[in-house]
Amino acid sequence: MQDAGTKLEQGSAQLRCIGCGSVLQSAGRNFRCPDCDDLLEVTYPGWKCADTALRPQDLKASWTERRKSSAYVDQSGVWRFRELLPVPSGPASLVSLSEGNTPVYELPNCARSTGVEALFAKHQGMNPTGSFKDTGMTVAATFARLEGFRWVACASTGNTSASMAAYAARGGMRSVVLIPEGQVSWGKLSQALDYGAVTCQLKTDFDGCMRVLNEVVQRMPVCLLNSVNPYRLEGQKTAAIELLEQFNWEAPDHIIVPGGNLGNSSAIGKACMEMKELGLISRLPKISIIQAEGANPLVRAMRENGGKKLSPMRADTMATAIRIGNPASWKKAVRVLEATGGTVEQVSEVEIALAKAEIGADGVGCEPASAVTLAGLKKLVKQGFIKRNESVVLILTGHMLKDPDFTIKFHRGDLFPDKKDDAAILKEQQRAPIVLDASVEAVLKALEQA
Ligand code: F0G
Repeated sequence: MQDAGTKLEQGSAQLRCIGCGSVLQSAGRNFRCPDCDDLLEVTYPGWKCADTALRPQDLKASWTERRKSSAYVDQSGVWRFRELLPVPSGPASLVSLSEGNTPVYELPNCARSTGVEALFAKHQGMNPTGSFKDTGMTVAATFARLEGFRWVACASTGNTSASMAAYAARGGMRSVVLIPEGQVSWGKLSQALDYGAVTCQLKTDFDGCMRVLNEVVQRMPVCLLNSVNPYRLEGQKTAAIELLEQFNWEAPDHIIVPGGNLGNSSAIGKACMEMKELGLISRLPKISIIQAEGANPLVRAMRENGGKKLSPMRADTMATAIRIGNPASWKKAVRVLEATGGTVEQVSEVEIALAKAEIGADGVGCEPASAVTLAGLKKLVKQGFIKRNESVVLILTGHMLKDPDFTIKFHRGDLFPDKKDDAAILKEQQRAPIVLDASVEAVLKALEQA
């Protein structure tokens, strides 16, 4: 079993501290800078070398060409973009489930109700385990295995654990997940169990699980696969690269991302900045981050001190995926907001539930945390930050079937038993199941009434 840190040996990729700028040959088990304890990121100095420079036209052409290939490495919508990723020594060593390759959907009804003319959803819930985590996990699991780790670990609100457990199983590694007891949807918990993870439900929240895990990885030779692992974010970048390819390399005006631990918004922003630097796109989309009101540490930090300092909070929201009060990647996210000119917004529980039903009514569907994007968009349009003639892409992060309890409770009217003031507006979106006698007449009558 390997107990050294992770090393980057291939290509021109290197690890750099986002705080002090130190360049490292290998990362410690906590993936933090040994000098200043800040997070690390992968950088590619080779992109600027004259003899190895990447030409945008060549990149676009080979990525398109690979769509026709049946090679294992090209079937992956992540490794198809391998020129912009840290690459292990051979395609045979990849841990992949043909992730990525996710659709972009138009949302015509949501566009109408929001008042924007061009509204799209990039549905990362259409990945193999039903969330965007898979795009990062293929890269991080590949490097964990390459380094000889037999165990991988994460703390999770559910999706990371589902994804990590699947990729560990595919890669012949064991996995251990720490999840907050009673705060993870059954859909996600059941995945971790089926994929064979040692699943520990801790009597704490996500932030508490993360604290425990940071200690565990120091004491045991396990590879940490949370999004502090910079390889995760490299894989998650490909959502944005693929999106821009789907948009024929014309950047939309706005991309809206849910914010939890803030890895995904950081990855999407990093991708956009790198694509701009390489000349793949000519302008940056504005990337905005939406949080739930009860789990809004980034929104507070931006409003209170311009993102200079983040005060951890006790988080609470029914969108359990983003119930996070001490997000690890907040500094990376602030950098993305500043570089792209995006903004932050927070949305209420009722706004989240209504937005989720509206996305569902467009035939798309998503899990609650993803719906903060539409709820946030409505506010940003009202504020005039997003203009009606601007194009907007919502990043839907999780599949509709991740949390059916939330959906059933919403439509039955059981989600907000105390919110009498919102009853009318909720009712408009609620489509409760109808219990009938088993007769043709009863069904016909129900149809007439509908
Ligand atoms: N949407 C979904 C469906 C998620 O599962 C998460 C995070 C987010 C959004 C937020 O993304 O953390 O990169 O800002 N889920 C993590 C987990 C934390 O453990 O599954 P983020």
